[in-house]
Amino acid sequence: MKDIFVTDSVKYIGTYDRSIDLFEGQYPVPNGISYNSYVIIDEKTAVMDTADKRCSDEWLANLESVLSGRKPDYMVVNHVEPDHAGSFGLFIEKYPDTAVVGNAKTFTMLENFFEKLPEFKRVVVKEGDTLSLGNHTLKFITAPMVHWPEVMVTYEESEGILFSADGFGRFGAPDSDEDWDCEARRYYFNIVGKYGMQVQSLLRKASALDIKIICPLHGPVLKEELSHYTGKYALWSSYAPEDKGVFIAYASIHGNTAKAAEKLAELIRARGEKAVVTDLARCDMSEAVEDAFRYDRIVFCASSYDGGVFLPMENFLVKLSSKTFRSRTAGIVENGSWGPTAARTIKEYLGNMKDITVAEPTVTIRSALKETDIPALEALADALCS
Ligand code: FEO
Repeated sequence: MKDIFVTDSVKYIGTYDRSIDLFEGQYPVPNGISYNSYVIIDEKTAVMDTADKRCSDEWLANLESVLSGRKPDYMVVNHVEPDHAGSFGLFIEKYPDTAVVGNAKTFTMLENFFEKLPEFKRVVVKEGDTLSLGNHTLKFITAPMVHWPEVMVTYEESEGILFSADGFGRFGAPDSDEDWDCEARRYYFNIVGKYGMQVQSLLRKASALDIKIICPLHGPVLKEELSHYTGKYALWSSYAPEDKGVFIAYASIHGNTAKAAEKLAELIRARGEKAVVTDLARCDMSEAVEDAFRYDRIVFCASSYDGGVFLPMENFLVKLSSKTFRSRTAGIVENGSWGPTAARTIKEYLGNMKDITVAEPTVTIRSALKETDIPALEALADALCS
């Protein structure tokens, strides 16, 4: 059992997964990920979500230990994605008398994931419905697309606890030495980032609640300075940049485009501004997506390739498009030895994004960075730093 204290009557039964290589099949998690789950002990008991089936045995043992011989009266399914509902089938087989609480979409999605579930009692809730456990009362608040359509969050009224589903989660097991802002930001923009409007809608609902503790489905339980976390979510979901700085993402075949990126960074720093450089062929792409949203300016610096743009850059642009990247000033540096095509392709992607201002000039390098290219890079640095 993990050593996380929530309150005297709310017990943590989550698990830490440090053996997973890629969370959701694509995100490196060097410090693992937690599948948080909680039990409320009252006249009636309520389990808040399950855990990924990778950790079913440990989770079921934690549950049994906390129940101390009692039965779970309710299972609240806030989110059906397998990292949280993955152990639902085993749970309901073991505790078939439990009433399962969810909204109409919850049950349809559970049936899609589990082919042969035993019969179980369903409590279908909608926005604002409440459920009394005795001294504790659960209030259900729908949060569609934060991060799936069936998502809801649950507010416990007597202790002011928000069970926030994926919201306010972060990568890394709760006991790992991770900066919350950094790994929550990477989590947010890569996983929930497309749904800023829906997150803002949930924040508006949450602002009417007296929240003292946030219990997310990933990462640490949040008990202090909650305005810091809600403030970050308000900012991130607005798509406004968090920091001043120029994020230079490059995709270089032989290292010459990389040199142009580094030279541009040097020129930007010489103007007193921050420049952060990333090699898209080698970095964790989710970090690059995070930094694209974090800074107020971005430069796409890439080699031409097969009549388009070098593929690590195209992959980056596809991911940014998918996460509805917007509202930034962008610079472009292309390299091409015979017919440069990178800038054209980059501009096609940017043209389909909202509120992107392309800084002039677009810089074209022929094969390798030369002294004659410096004035154009200086002009782009001036435009980005003006
Ligand atoms: Fe943590 Fe959307 O699952």
